[in-house]
Parts: sequence; C-alpha cells; structure tokens
Amino acid sequence: MSQVSLPRRLVRKIRKLLRRPGYWITARRLSRDGFDRIHGTDTNRLLETRSRLGIPVHRYETASASAILAALDSVPLDLTGFTFIDLGCGKGKPLLIAAGYPFRRVIGVDISEPCLTITRQNLAKSGRDHRVELVVADVLEYELPAGPLLIYLFNPFPAPVVEHVVSRLVKRLQESSEQMVIVYMYPKFADVIERTGAFERVAQIPGREAPHERADIFLSQNALASRA
Ligand SMILES: C[S@@+](CC[C@H](N)C(=O)[O-])C[C@H]1O[C@@H](n2cnc3c(N)ncnc32)[C@H](O)[C@@H]1O
Repeated sequence: MSQVSLPRRLVRKIRKLLRRPGYWITARRLSRDGFDRIHGTDTNRLLETRSRLGIPVHRYETASASAILAALDSVPLDLTGFTFIDLGCGKGKPLLIAAGYPFRRVIGVDISEPCLTITRQNLAKSGRDHRVELVVADVLEYELPAGPLLIYLFNPFPAPVVEHVVSRLVKRLQESSEQMVIVYMYPKFADVIERTGAFERVAQIPGREAPHERADIFLSQNALASRA
C-alpha cells in the first residue's frame, strides 16, 4: 500500500501535468465549437502521431469549425469541380466540412494509420464517408490526382517537408494548366510558398478564436488570371 494519501497523489499528478512542456498551449488550443458533440465524432483530442518507422511527426491538432469555414469561404473562386486534399488530414475535421462543398473529390492523406482509424470512425458517424477518400502515406511519396486542386494544410509539417511539398506543387503547375489553391491554416512557413512566385497570397484571415487559427489563401497564377 502506498504511504501517500489519495488526495496528495492526485495533487502531485495534476502538478506534473501542468509542468509538462506545452500543456498550457495545448489546453488553449482545444476548440470549444461543440463540433464533436454535434457530430458524435472524436476530432478535438490531441494525438501524438508517428511515421511507419515509429518516428514522431507533427502531432495531430485541428482548428475550430468556424475557422475552417471562414478559410474555405474566403477563396475567391468557384471551387465546383476542384479536388479538396488535406495533406496531413489527421482525424478528418476539415474533410467532414469539405464534404459539404461541391468538390469533385475530397481526399485526406496522413502518415499515421492509428490516426486514420479514428478518421474512418468519424466519417462513418457523420454519414459522409461515401464522399471522402483516405490515403495512408507519407506526403513525400503521395502522387497528386489530376484536375484542379485545393490543397488544405493546417501546419502539418516542419519547414524541410513544406519546402519539398511546395516544390512538387510548383512542378505540377509547370507541367499542367490545372488551377491550384492553397488554404494554409496556421501558416508558419508561408514564405516558402511566396518565394516560389508561382502563387499569390489573396487573403489573410485572422484567427477569430485563437491566433493559431489564422489562415493564408494562395492562388496559382493561372487561377488568378481566370478571375480577371
Ligand atoms: C496539425 S495536424 C492537422 C490535421 C488536419 N489537417 C486538421 O486540420 O484537422 C498534422 C497532421 O499531419 C500528419 N503528418 C505529419 N507529417 C506527415 C507526413 N510526412 N505525411 C503525411 N502526414 C503527416 C500528422 O500525422 C497529423 O495528423
């Protein structure tokens, strides 16, 4: 039997939790939009995700539904016929929201199979599973589908991976005439996209509920020209 009383053990546990690096940031970032309560899903809880080799990657977290909607609604183009791809889709909250838009296809790519198991359950609970395709893959190996694309990113990768992904998007623009939109939430490495000259930032959405929910909207030059 432990000599330490239960209340004291509890206090120690709570203190340890509060000292954990990032605890306060984490608590502030949990969305209070009621999305999971309404849809019966599990999207709010953070999750440490790993590659197939067990190497930790950027952990799973998401934005509030209002921030995702505000970002999508700020794209100054008719997105009918575009394919929505969430690179690093996590538990699928943006996929569930995108499934309500007239996208031709809605695709989620994530490196973590355990995370996508939760995503599949979320999609089934929402009744929108028929609209969404999931791919377990490292984004560095994922082949983009044909047609106009809306690439959705919520701070999913460290700078070197963002560099690699963006260079592949630029190569794709050089090889095809298809339009491309990037919705970049929590755009930590937006300069990587700007530097290419292949995209123009057309909107910056402030995070209404939290600063990390801000978004940058980029259009490829051909998408920009189509608006003129
Ligand atoms: C910050 S979460 C964003 C989740 C989702 N986009 C959202 O907004 O709800 C980042 C996700 O990217 C995934 N990820 C990290 N590195 C990846 C990689 N190299 N390839 C594919 N997915 C990756 C993680 O597993 C995690 O689920």
